[in-house]
Amino acid sequence: MSKTLAKLLFALAAIVVLGAMPVQAASNLSGELEIFSWWAGDEGPALEALIDIYKKENPNVKVLNATVTGGSGVNAKAVLKTRMLGGNPPDSFQVHAGQELIGTWVKADRMEDLTPLFKEQGWMKVFPEGLIKNIGTDKGIWSVPVNIHRSNVLWYIPANLKKWGVEAPKTWDEFFAIAPKLKKQGIVPLALAQNWTANHLWESVALAALGPDKWDALWSGKLAFDSPEAVKAWELFGKILEYTNADASSLSWQQATDMVVDGRAAFNIMGDWAAGYMSTTKKLAPGSGFGWMASPGTGGAFMFLADSFGLPKGAPHRDNAIAWLTLLGSKEGSDAFNPLKGSISARTDSDLSKYNDYAKSASADFAKDRIVGSLAHGVTANETFMGDFATVMEMFLKTRNAAAAGKMAQQIAVKSGIGK
Ligand code: GAL
Repeated sequence: MSKTLAKLLFALAAIVVLGAMPVQAASNLSGELEIFSWWAGDEGPALEALIDIYKKENPNVKVLNATVTGGSGVNAKAVLKTRMLGGNPPDSFQVHAGQELIGTWVKADRMEDLTPLFKEQGWMKVFPEGLIKNIGTDKGIWSVPVNIHRSNVLWYIPANLKKWGVEAPKTWDEFFAIAPKLKKQGIVPLALAQNWTANHLWESVALAALGPDKWDALWSGKLAFDSPEAVKAWELFGKILEYTNADASSLSWQQATDMVVDGRAAFNIMGDWAAGYMSTTKKLAPGSGFGWMASPGTGGAFMFLADSFGLPKGAPHRDNAIAWLTLLGSKEGSDAFNPLKGSISARTDSDLSKYNDYAKSASADFAKDRIVGSLAHGVTANETFMGDFATVMEMFLKTRNAAAAGKMAQQIAVKSGIGK
């Protein structure tokens, strides 16, 4: 038999075999599915990739992608609260793993226990034990995690740093040494945006000032917010603010990233959704187009947060929501979502070949670094604390009074039950 004929026969045989293989049947679910999140606009592509898969699997379900714009859910969480308390929950909503979920919605008995789904899907083995602890209590498991994001990251454009004759600072002292040099060239040393991004910066600064053990001690109630160490973190934060842009409060997080990308600012400290934005939206290559480093003074620590989705009690389209959650927790769903989002998969078996160099480095750090929880994104404190902390931050941004901020933070920690 000639080689060509053999190839042809092989190809024909392959077509017959593949043709006989079962194609995944479309589900017979119908009706609607309302998914509630703050992933609107520039934050949308990763969620949309998941919704596309869902629509293929469930062609008769009408998906309502309900988003409320505003980074870190500042606006979405307020709308969600009104809806939940008004007995009008969406079918599934975005919520951070940790106290935002457990200390808020689970405590108020508003969520369904997803343990049966975790068991059925074999998820007890594929999600890290530590993460399951952040979405579970002794009474159940309350959401499905879609990712792991890192909060303590410093972003920059390598070519710009070269042009300005500076290097990315590993410590805040190194930052203070180069900041005046940048200012002289008309460059904002550190880009900042609206108030929640000040909380975001604060947690990276506090982690640098306190170190991981004392950071954890703040949240277990063993270290007071008005202790000398914690007040020092506010002092350092105040000093850093001197090198940020004056119009911060009117900017979105993307606009602060834009300042870095456009060469108006040297650095920004933001979670790695900024990597998603720079690679997916801005089409910059990780490494050559944009650079990163652990935020100053936090090398070796990985401040994590995880987005997850839950099933509220009384969800109008419960079965459709369960199909959604099943997709979120799957390997296919996770590896479609995370490469676009800038995060890494929450599953331990993800296919890293689908991820870019930033995500590969985050994944390596996640495996070896000391893991601590994010305040600004729901891990360490409940919504009561977060709401009041925003007020403490506003006060500090106006007065720069570190001792008063420490005192107020301690009062709200007691009020919201930290350490109890
Ligand atoms: C975080 C969320 C991220 C990203 C970011 C900016 O709270 O976990 O996924 O959306 O806010 O909005």
